[in-house]
Amino acid sequence: MNQSEIREGYFGRYGGRFVSELLIPALEELTTAFKKYSRDSAFKKEYNNLLREFAGRPTLMYHARNISEKWGADVYLKREDLLHTGSHKINNCLGQALLAKKLKKPRVIAETGAGQHGVATATAAALMKLECCVYMGNEDLRRQALNGFRMRLLGAFVVGAGDQMGTLRDAVNEALRDWSSSVDHTHYIVGSVIGPHPFPSLVKWFHAVIGRESKKQIIRMTGKLPDAVFACVGGGSNAMGMFSGFLTESGVDLIGAEAGGTGMKKGEHSSTLKMGKPGVLQGCYTYVLQNKAGIVDNVHSISAGLDYPGVGPEHAHLLETGRAKYVAISDDSALAAFQELSETEGIIPALESSHALAAARNWVFDQKKLGRKKPMIVISLSGRGDKDAAEAQRLMEKQGRVFQ
Ligand SMILES: Cc1ncc(COP(=O)(O)O)c(C=O)c1O
Repeated sequence: MNQSEIREGYFGRYGGRFVSELLIPALEELTTAFKKYSRDSAFKKEYNNLLREFAGRPTLMYHARNISEKWGADVYLKREDLLHTGSHKINNCLGQALLAKKLKKPRVIAETGAGQHGVATATAAALMKLECCVYMGNEDLRRQALNGFRMRLLGAFVVGAGDQMGTLRDAVNEALRDWSSSVDHTHYIVGSVIGPHPFPSLVKWFHAVIGRESKKQIIRMTGKLPDAVFACVGGGSNAMGMFSGFLTESGVDLIGAEAGGTGMKKGEHSSTLKMGKPGVLQGCYTYVLQNKAGIVDNVHSISAGLDYPGVGPEHAHLLETGRAKYVAISDDSALAAFQELSETEGIIPALESSHALAAARNWVFDQKKLGRKKPMIVISLSGRGDKDAAEAQRLMEKQGRVFQ
């Protein structure tokens, strides 16, 4: 249990395990295994070797000098985009695939939104010789067709979920349905800090390396802690990984960027912490975008990895305690940040990470209005933008921007 986990499986009043009794034995088995292996030095060594030799850790902490100069701040980027498969998701997939091996489960399944978690799962499964099936919403399969192909190329079986508009929520539902009938030989590699206990704690544990490395690197490079750290929040895994390194440092602001989409009316956004209410979604008690009758809202975001109507329960707790703040970033602001980092710094960020960049930019300009001279910040660059290039081009050309 970590500091903010007050009862096992709970973060304040959020979290828990709200699932069919069919899944309880598997969740118990996983909880026991997680407790055992997270303390086991041989397991930690094997996992750390995979992170180093296969995934490419530690990732760089990069001083983005051009953006720093443009914004009038010291801006550092935690380069999770440089990891094998192109995003932070591989940290968790390697860890959970290794756990599946220890649990002697020959098959893994996953849900995926942007396809990054699916690709990372398929990659880990290929490496560890596990059978793999990935569920992906049909709309996401359209937006991220290349990732659909990458997963198949890696040997995974890819199944479209939901109707034509199917997104991450539909993919999670299908994966949970599969798991209920296959739990004896299948491990479900949940892709974010969501779902029933122990997933929010387990997924955070595998991503805590982001915050641990960041803290060490920024102190080594600057001799001090940052004024604020930023991360985008879909389910919230890269944010929890980053925040976990700074949770006890009260002088460091923790800021999560949710998808503000095209507006704040129902169906236009995925800003769960800003616009949602507490409720149960896909196995845990957390903030949920829902109507008065508890029916889950449709959600939208320019980025497939952020359009989820729930959020990790620890984020709900951090919001309620005031330790972290969450802002909504519109599709247009994210797209502008996507372009700004590309042309200013020579780094094409994922559209998800572009939300964190836009939130950081807004924060820096607000701070300067308040008279703060040159704030120093760290932004989690959770993934690279190659997967988004075709969609971004389509949207930018729709806005009348011409590329020659
Ligand atoms: C690059 C990238 N960043 C962020 C996310 C959002 O996930 P999370 O909030 O769990 O970090 C995704 C999800 O697919 C992603 O692909």
